Amino acid sequence: MPYPEIRPRRLRRNAAVRRLVSETRVDPAELVVPMFVKEGLTEPRAVASLPGVLQHSRDSLRKAAVEAVQAGVGGIMLFGVPETRDETGSGGIDPAGILNVAIRDVISEVGDATVVMSDLCLDEFTSHGHCGLLTPDGGGVDNDATLAAYAEMAVAQAEAGVHVVGPSGMMDGQVGVVRRALDAAGHQDVSVLAYAVKYASAFFGPFRDAVESALEGDRRAYQQDPANLRESLREVELDVAEGADMVMVKPALPYLDVVSAVRAAVDVPVAAYQVSGEYAMVEAAAANGWLDRERTMLETLTSIRRAGAQIILTYWAVEAAQLLRARY
Ligand code: PBG
Repeated sequence: MPYPEIRPRRLRRNAAVRRLVSETRVDPAELVVPMFVKEGLTEPRAVASLPGVLQHSRDSLRKAAVEAVQAGVGGIMLFGVPETRDETGSGGIDPAGILNVAIRDVISEVGDATVVMSDLCLDEFTSHGHCGLLTPDGGGVDNDATLAAYAEMAVAQAEAGVHVVGPSGMMDGQVGVVRRALDAAGHQDVSVLAYAVKYASAFFGPFRDAVESALEGDRRAYQQDPANLRESLREVELDVAEGADMVMVKPALPYLDVVSAVRAAVDVPVAAYQVSGEYAMVEAAAANGWLDRERTMLETLTSIRRAGAQIILTYWAVEAAQLLRARY
């Protein structure tokens, strides 16, 4: 018999020993819950392709924020859905725009009890649904004109009281421009969570329903090609050099090799965004009885954590935090 004395199974024999030797734990403090708020709603509304996720009214958002704090989540990432949109996405910059109003609401409700973050991108606010301003000749998104808009949007979000801005439009130079604009306006304390690595992914589909995206076409001229890994390391390096406090990889589960490589490459905290399609895929299978919902949920979060993400954005954050707290 070869080596019968070497038995890895000894450390799997019961729950107590498995808990003792577990290499990865998901802590509620590292989970961030994305939340949507829609202008003009008086009641929250379900999002068909994201079962369990709501488009909030201002009122229900406040309550959900309190519930998230009570569950112990580490942060809330806010997305706004405006009633009207225009070519330049001016509603993102307007202090009375829905996202800026929602930041004020949530901050006045939860203060510093959790980290309040906001998506810093124009796609929810533009009539064409792109993440930036279009060139006059219709040739695509104008990188540098968009940067000027992001700078204003960052300052508007900071004035509303947000703790962390999340530039997600994949424009070159966006982190540096946002950092300088925040500093010039006296907001040195506001952090930048850079969506450093963001792929042109089919997994964003349900999110586009949640924000009622006006986009026709795709974002392949600014988001990354799913085939590329080294390009992500370049994006991360640039964002850190431009002053990113934290970097994010998105989506998460189909890109765990990228999460792992990014973790090895930088010392700033690394986040991963388990996006709408990852969530919807599991929810749909579970609704059919094809997957065990809770086990699958926690397994995906553990895997993202194991790959090297210290922070996870997930639509399951509140529920997962409650489950995990009951467990440990
Ligand atoms: C851009 C943004 C998107 C997501 C987060 N920020 C959409 C996109 O790039 O098309 C997607 C998140 C998800 O799918 O859960 N504002």
